[in-house]
Amino acid sequence: MQAFEFYSPTKIIFGPGTEQQVGTQAAAWGASKVLVVYGGQSAVRSGLLDRVLASLQQCGLAYETLGGVHPNPRLSLVREGLKKALDFGADFLLAVGGGSVIDTAKAIADGAANPELDIWDDIWLRKVPLEKALPVGVILTIPAAGSESSESSVLTKDDTLEKRGFSSSFQRPRFAIMNPELTFTLPSYQVSCGIVDIMMHTMDRYFNPVTTNELTDEIALGLLRTVVRNGRQALEQPGDYQAMSELMWAGSLSHNGLTGLGGPLDFATHQLGHELSARFDAAHGATLAAMWGSWARYCMDTNPARFARFGQQVWGLDAAGKTEQEQALAAIEATEDYFRSIGMPTCLSELLGAAQSAQVLEMLTVGCTFHGQRTIGSFRILGHEDILAIYNLANH
Ligand code: NZQ
Ligand code: ZN
Repeated sequence: MQAFEFYSPTKIIFGPGTEQQVGTQAAAWGASKVLVVYGGQSAVRSGLLDRVLASLQQCGLAYETLGGVHPNPRLSLVREGLKKALDFGADFLLAVGGGSVIDTAKAIADGAANPELDIWDDIWLRKVPLEKALPVGVILTIPAAGSESSESSVLTKDDTLEKRGFSSSFQRPRFAIMNPELTFTLPSYQVSCGIVDIMMHTMDRYFNPVTTNELTDEIALGLLRTVVRNGRQALEQPGDYQAMSELMWAGSLSHNGLTGLGGPLDFATHQLGHELSARFDAAHGATLAAMWGSWARYCMDTNPARFARFGQQVWGLDAAGKTEQEQALAAIEATEDYFRSIGMPTCLSELLGAAQSAQVLEMLTVGCTFHGQRTIGSFRILGHEDILAIYNLANH
């Protein structure tokens, strides 16, 4: 194992009915005035929101609500929520939903603890280091983004369509309540997007330049096998508790740092995907599925043996008589076959309905480099020419 730091203090409360504990948990973390953040309709329709508010009330906690978070959440709603939090004097943020809701709550928590700072210009663009945030608790309704135990959050600025992530240990949720039964109302498309996102949080860690973290790699490969198997099962049998519970736990472990300990993050596919979400409002997991195969074909020669091992251990591919390059290509094809089998796109026309013009690809590339200010990736470091080449590979 190489040197690492691991700090993942989110308390996980996992299992059927656990959402009934939300009032007690929030109170235990010092909440007295809770701003409850939720999405479009799902938490209202299922009755979950009512149960949550009742639990807060029973524990003597005051609350206000902020609904209407869209997937790929917007800065404008964060600003609205921030005003609400400050007017109300909120001392705790409770997110009831998925990554978009949790990330909105995290951003409000950052801003409300630092009202003298601008949430985008100062905090998100890192002009001023974040030194405090209000505590955040989560009731998770979709296994996907891993935000329930990650230190990151991702927002899109409405006017410029920049989708940017921000990480700070102050954003790590205090607790995450995870009842797999709450996911049973998910449309299959969202289940599939979640499966891809969970896989990619581990693959964007596994494909890094360090190959001497044996236990980390074994955890990563075992997690991927578990997600592949249970992902299939969850889609074939909607409402299968066993499959959904495995996915839900994998979603958290995939993005709390565990599956990449000792190596640098790659996350190039995430950065390529974020531009597609920003410009076309495409679902996060689907953008990753559309880009990964092209990233992998472009980068596999950097370390084909690593792809070969991934192919053998995740997809059960036979190495006999094949070169490492052939094994690597077979592993990429097996991954894309799986994505297609769960209804996910593997190129831009499947994601967006049509291939894109050269002008659009250039615009995506410029956005991805933050206008020439950064490279992406660590497995292979990618600049403007590389990124454009990968978008071109995916453009069919
Ligand atoms: O808005 P509602 O009506 O709740 O519907 C949501 C939404 O349309 C629906 N949904 C959620 N739970 C449901 C449900 N529908 C029925 N029943 C349920 N139980 O699912 C849709 C997607 O929700 P969203 O929160 O957007 O999904 P996800 O968890 O995939 O989050 C995606 C966002 O997280 C960011 C992504 O970029 C994207 O903006 N990410 C955040 C990360 C982090 N903070 O650590 C890391 C990730 O890599 C990712 O970037
Ligand atoms: Zn992701």
